Formats: sequence, structure tokens, C-alpha cells
Amino acid sequence: MSKNKLGIIGMAVMGKNLALNFADKGYKLAVYNRSEEPLKKALEEDATGNLEGFSSLKDFVESLEKPRRVLLMIKSGDPVDQMCNELLKYLEKDDIIMDAGNSYYKDTIRRTNELKEHGINFLGVGVSGGEEGARLGPAIMPGGDKEAYGHVKELLEAVSAKNEDGGVCCKYAGTDGAGHYVKMVHNSIEYGDMQIIAEMYLILREAFKIDNDQMAKEFEYFKDGIQSGYLLDIAVNVLKEKDEDGSYLLENIKDKAKHKGTGKWAALEAIDLGVETSVLVAGLNARVISSLFEDRKEFSEMYPRGDYETLDIAMWRDDIKNALLLSKIIAYAQGFALLKEAASEYNWDFDYKSIAEGFTAGCILQGRLLKEIMDAYEENPKLSNLLLSPVFEDIVKECSSSLRKVVSKAFELEIPIPALSSGLSYFDSLKTYPGSANMIQGLRDYFGAHTFERVDREGTFHHKWNR
Ligand code: 6PG
Repeated sequence: MSKNKLGIIGMAVMGKNLALNFADKGYKLAVYNRSEEPLKKALEEDATGNLEGFSSLKDFVESLEKPRRVLLMIKSGDPVDQMCNELLKYLEKDDIIMDAGNSYYKDTIRRTNELKEHGINFLGVGVSGGEEGARLGPAIMPGGDKEAYGHVKELLEAVSAKNEDGGVCCKYAGTDGAGHYVKMVHNSIEYGDMQIIAEMYLILREAFKIDNDQMAKEFEYFKDGIQSGYLLDIAVNVLKEKDEDGSYLLENIKDKAKHKGTGKWAALEAIDLGVETSVLVAGLNARVISSLFEDRKEFSEMYPRGDYETLDIAMWRDDIKNALLLSKIIAYAQGFALLKEAASEYNWDFDYKSIAEGFTAGCILQGRLLKEIMDAYEENPKLSNLLLSPVFEDIVKECSSSLRKVVSKAFELEIPIPALSSGLSYFDSLKTYPGSANMIQGLRDYFGAHTFERVDREGTFHHKWNR
């Protein structure tokens, strides 16, 4: 009997759907799950007969063609280490373990090195697109040893999403943790992008007091352009969805958002590398504040929002649309700036155009903006910030006054818009030249002799300040 091409460990929702996707593409697969039920379910759902289920890890590994390719779709963290240790009993030199979960890239680097000592190639593979993506074609961000990747490239490309130009959304990112790093930044942009959408919703709800069906219509208008994409599409559906009693489901959902870690890692990373990703971090912080549910109730009673006149949406529609577009571009600019810094910090030779292309289909970020980002990097692969690209220059110029108007109005109306306002401040800070850091330097030198540079002479200076 011919051996299995690939083995997948973990038959929960993502693993099962990915396995069915591989099976559909004609690959013979070994599938393993610790508990019986999910494994049974996967085998039942397989209409191709390409899945072979195993309850023994040893038999599972032995059923694989060499070099053995094992893909882990299990909970990130300790379970990955435990499974790698177990697999070490059965794997041989040059076999490959792929971790397709949302693992922390530093763990991936560590595991790569640890497993290398046993002759095993470890690949950190970012996978995006949720359940549907896994089943029909996710975006895949592989990282690890390039040669080892050569043994799985065809397989991963086969199941990955393809964009409308036929582009394959499976892009090798770089060595060791690069794939998981790209996925982490993808998720961080996802946080920012979603927060922008949430703020637009809040503005519509509070300033215009329109109902959800009307909001959905406005969102249909907002998303008509290069800002269109998966998240805005599903926002329309989320707005319109009705609950069992006919009310809008969205209004029955507690505004208390959770997170599982990738957005936090990216925020810590940005601070570590000295990259300003305020819009993305605003997405994280807004979730943090949202969970202060009881405090917020108390705040709202102690400091109630004023009564404001309802605004006319017709007067604001275009400004909101432009503000949404620009803040979204800024979110991506910040995410890609983080990637750029990481490339030099960790010696990854990121191809930003390819990373953007990898996001064009299958993943949560999929949308038209990615094509413009590809153009920007095509024109200048070393671009220091997306907002400096001629591709975005006119849009930024056109939309910045709208963003300013929307932010000012929201502040006036006491509507919290941390992502929009951070985006605007980021933009204003970058284009303020000279800025105010001379004052910071003066203060630092005054109280701590921290020295400063001068505009008129080279060198480092300390001044004897008049006290
Ligand atoms: C994806 C998603 C997914 C991700 C969550 C983030 O690309 O399919 O990014 O992998 O883990 O959406 O989860 P939290 O919002 O819970 O942190």
C-alpha cells in the first residue's frame, strides 16, 4: 500500500478542515487525534477516501512517505512542545514537523534550533482564514529552513487560497520564526482593521442614530473602493443579522472583546523594536478597556455623555468613507513598518510585495488594498513607509482632511475613537518637521545631562543650563 504524503495531528475544527482540503486535492493523508471523537468525525466527513485515521502515533508516523511530513494543528504553547517530544520517538533525520498554529515566533525559533539538533526540520507555518479558509483555501505563511520547505511547498501551495489573478497565497517568509512573525503581524493589523470598523459603527450609532439596516447600507457605501475586503463585507452581515426575536443580534452581544495573544505579542514586539504601531495597539487596548465592563458602567453613570444633536449622515458619508480608507492604510503602514524593522533585527530578507500578495486571498485581511500595497513595493521594494509611496500620495492627501474632520467631531461628541485618532496623530507626527523632541532633549539635558544633537553642528552636546 502506498504511503501517506502528509500527516496531520489535531482534528479540531481547523485541523479537520485543512485535512479535508488536502484530501480534496488528491493527497493521501494520515490523520491523528488524541481523543477518538474528532478523529471519527473527520473520517466521516471525508468523501474522498484519502484520509487514513490513526489512534497510535507510532503507526501514524510509520504510514508516512519519507521525508515524513507532519503538520500540527493543535493548541499553541506547551502542547506543541509535548507533541514534538513525542514525535521525536518515531521521526528520523530529515523528517519535517510543521506547526500551523498561532505560535509565538520566539517559540518557533527555539523549537527550530532544538529539533535541528535531532536532525528534524521544524517549519513555523502561519495559517489564516478561519474554518472556511482551512476548508477552501487559507492564506499560508510558511517559515523555516528553505530546503526543508522545498519538500512541502507543493502541498501547501495546493491547498492555499488563490487570488483572482491566479496568485498563490502561500508565500515563504524566511528562516525559523519568519512565517509565524508574518502571521503575528497579520493578526495585529487584523486587530487595527477591526477596531477601525468598530469605531465607524459607534460613530454611526451615536452621532447619526441610524438603525443597523441603515448602517449596513452606509457600510456598503464605505466599502466601495480600494478599502473593500473581507472584514468590511462581513461587517455588513454582522450589522444586519437578526436574533431569534427579530431584534438585531449585534445589539444583544455584550461589548466585551477577548483576545488570544497574537495582538499582544505584536504590541510588545513593536515596543521592543521601537516601531510606532498605535492603530494596531489601539485595537488591543480597546479590547482591554471593553473588558472593564463594571467600571465602564460606573464611569458612564458618573460622567454621562452629553446630549448632542443628531447629525445628518448625508453631510458626512464621504468624510467617513475617506476617514475609514486612510486609517486603514495607516494600520497597514504600521504593520509593514514593523515587518521592516523585524527584517533587519532578525536577518529576515522579507519580500514585502510577496507578503502583501500572500494576504490577497484566503485570510482575514484579504481585500483590494493589498494590491495597492503590492504596487507600492513593486515600485520601491525598500520603501520605508507605505504612506511615502506615490501609490498612496493622492489618496492620503485627499482623505486626511476627512479623517481630521471625523476625529474632531467624534472628540466633540465624546465618542471614543482610539484607532482613528492614533492614526491621525501618527500621520501628523510623521509630517511635523521640525517637531517637539527638541524640548524633550532640552529637558533631558537640563535634569540629567543626557546630551543632545544640534541642528547647526555635528556632535553631541551638553549645555550648562541657567538654573
Ligand atoms: C486568522 C485569524 C486567527 C486569529 C484570530 C485572532 O487569520 O484566521 O487571525 O488565526 O487567531 O482571529 O484571535 P483573537 O482575536 O482571539 O486574538
